[in-house]
Amino acid sequence: VDVEESAPTAAPPEERPIGYGRLKRKEDPRFVRGKGNYVDDVLLPGMLHGAVLRSPFAHARIVSIDTSAAEAHPKVKAVITGKTLEGLGLAWMPTLSMDTQAVLATDKVRFQGQEVAFVVAEDHYAARDAVELIDIEYEPLPAVIDARRAMDADAPVIRDDKEGRTDNHIFDWEAGDPEAANAVFERADVVVRQEMLYPRVHPAPLETCGCVASMDPVEGKLTLWETCQAPHAHRTLVAMVAGIPEQKIRIVAPDIGGGFGNKVGIYPGYVCAVVGSIVTGKPVKWMEDRSENLMSTSFARDYHMTGEIAATRDGKILGIRADVLADHGAFNGTAQPTKYPAGFFHIFTGSYDIEAAHCKVTGVYTNKAPGGVAYACSFRVTEAVYLVERMVDCLANELGRDPAELRMQNLLRPEQFPYENKTGWTYDSGDYPTTLRKAMDIAGYEQLREEQRRRRAEGKPMGIGVSFFTEVVGAGARKHFDILGLGMADGCELRVHPTGKAVVRLSVQTQGQGHETTFAQIVAEELGIPPEDIQVVHGDTDQTPFGLGTYGSRSTPVSGAAAAVVARKVRDKARLIAGAMLEVSPDDLDWEKGRWFVRGDPSAGKSIQEIALAAHGTLELPEGVEGHLEATTVYNPPNLTFPYGAYICVVDVDPGTGVVKVRRFIAVDDCGTRINPMIIEGQVHGGLADGVGMALMQLIGFDEDGNCLSGSFMDYLLPTALEVPDWELGYTVTPSPHHPIGAKGIGESATVGSPPAVVNAVMDAIGVRHADMPLTPSRVWHAMHGGVGAP
Ligand code: CDP
Repeated sequence: VDVEESAPTAAPPEERPIGYGRLKRKEDPRFVRGKGNYVDDVLLPGMLHGAVLRSPFAHARIVSIDTSAAEAHPKVKAVITGKTLEGLGLAWMPTLSMDTQAVLATDKVRFQGQEVAFVVAEDHYAARDAVELIDIEYEPLPAVIDARRAMDADAPVIRDDKEGRTDNHIFDWEAGDPEAANAVFERADVVVRQEMLYPRVHPAPLETCGCVASMDPVEGKLTLWETCQAPHAHRTLVAMVAGIPEQKIRIVAPDIGGGFGNKVGIYPGYVCAVVGSIVTGKPVKWMEDRSENLMSTSFARDYHMTGEIAATRDGKILGIRADVLADHGAFNGTAQPTKYPAGFFHIFTGSYDIEAAHCKVTGVYTNKAPGGVAYACSFRVTEAVYLVERMVDCLANELGRDPAELRMQNLLRPEQFPYENKTGWTYDSGDYPTTLRKAMDIAGYEQLREEQRRRRAEGKPMGIGVSFFTEVVGAGARKHFDILGLGMADGCELRVHPTGKAVVRLSVQTQGQGHETTFAQIVAEELGIPPEDIQVVHGDTDQTPFGLGTYGSRSTPVSGAAAAVVARKVRDKARLIAGAMLEVSPDDLDWEKGRWFVRGDPSAGKSIQEIALAAHGTLELPEGVEGHLEATTVYNPPNLTFPYGAYICVVDVDPGTGVVKVRRFIAVDDCGTRINPMIIEGQVHGGLADGVGMALMQLIGFDEDGNCLSGSFMDYLLPTALEVPDWELGYTVTPSPHHPIGAKGIGESATVGSPPAVVNAVMDAIGVRHADMPLTPSRVWHAMHGGVGAP
């Protein structure tokens, strides 16, 4: 349901969609015709296929590995084990959190599904068959599955590969001011405390992970087609890990079937495919199957949180505290900037004007798959938003207050921006009350509460859940944010060819977000060249400038800014050339979209296309201007951007079965200047579906021995069109003051903001303070009947 008409008509034109607005996506003709080109579509002459042998145990010592039967298979070309890799110095690789991860296990296996051997064969089926022929003797060890037991004195030490290790502790990290927080908690009238788990979930992109590695033995050049969100970072990491000179590595990320954080890291299968290509002298393809993807690639969340909120009797929130135990699995593979082992959990004070805050996070190893990636969110902000938005509802419950009204009382006010929060982050811009009011108007909030009272009287549980979230996206700046020491600034390159058609080259990597359309729109807006005349190039390190890739909704805040800046550089250069063409001083020229003209004489002007031709022609160029019309830039953002939104969810709960039906979902987002409203809506729709999924059905579960219980889509449930309602969207526009076009990110807002709205709605329906996600029928039923610990 499109309720865009209700957008603030008072917004000045420059705050409306830019660069042709609702342009249909340039990339879609190839997708709807089945002409997309994914990694698994790459076929090379003589290509071989790899398959991984994985551990059946969560924790076991490897006694022996016998590969002789596999090697004797007529179609097998190579069998690689940890021992083979040890010889090459590749048995272990660095993780994105400066830890180490086994590429193929040598000493022990540390989670079920861990990579133990790699077979290269003539075809995929032979590789899989030969994997079955490898004989491994394991000595099973007790496993640590519950993070709350990881630091017990008798817990087995998982990372005994690290010298001197005697426990499973990874890090302690804190933010805020503990004394100030204690002081407000002591004088508060009301303190509410609640434990909650943000369970382990998985990004589950429709395209699983994989690669094709092709080592050219003559040139010494490695080409790696990869499912990858950050090609340039991968090239540098491959150079560091494999010792291949960086200029001899080309990473190609073709069409990507969804990433959501799952394709940020480097997986052992990629390293094995490279080694396979080196040892066989042939290209090697490795694509994981669905179970491998769910069981062994980066999970998300797994935060055990205790929240505390302090307030006055009349509902003024004074302070928030959080204590978190973070389950990082067997290798610390979380994708976080080095300074922030708990990512952007700092934003746990949310959207409220409070006096003090403090949080502590402790990370531990367990015998589960490594990861902890930002699944459609910016580095742990999802966990933070869930915590604070659940805590505000717990407080409303304690005080007997309406949760929307309590939020309205405590939201930051527009005049407080830029606002420095209590953990040191400066929110760039916002008008929170207007956004919440708008969501309440679209929902018909008062009528909904009236309907709820009526239905309750009839014994029909209906719930209304509210959440208000502040996201934090756009990492850099490079001095604060990095991946493995690589700063998060983005390069961008723009060339206008003699006929006035342009090519813009990006370091970010679309995975379905529509960059080929929106980045053309940004350049079109700045130069007046129509978007169809602008080709967007990305996904190939030989073709694009360096940058850190796409995750945490950073494409628009960082590379989008770079695209605007580089287009402005070209525009400035065009001005000098237009001055020479018109034989006037460039200072006497004015710009209107697409042309420079003589001030006071609009008929005397030159279009950007005419200028481009002249720049490549025989015109005598002004002093200091080189020929051609092109520019490059590296954009290092001065701050993050802070998109936000108000969400309202309406649910009905079946009192007999505990089944939750999401009846309505109202989402009002503010992502600053909107480039393409249609793409924004698509991003929000996807994120809301994600949120309903996480709140109600998605869970990577384990039994007590560490067997993964969610290794297929029969057990790891994704929401379909049947489980989600027609979304009701609205928006407000509060541009970011420091972004060249005022845009903030949007890709992940809905995934971040929607789970607490759904959970708040279910708790509101059943009159229970808290039950953990996923709110499956069984959990809801048990919660309704006085127990919250149901499976
Ligand atoms: O980094 P990622 O592409 O995942 O997220 P994003 O920067 O939030 O952008 C997602 C998509 O929405 C891109 O195609 C953006 O250009 C588009 N977008 C937009 O049209 N207007 C905005 N203010 C923000 C994003």
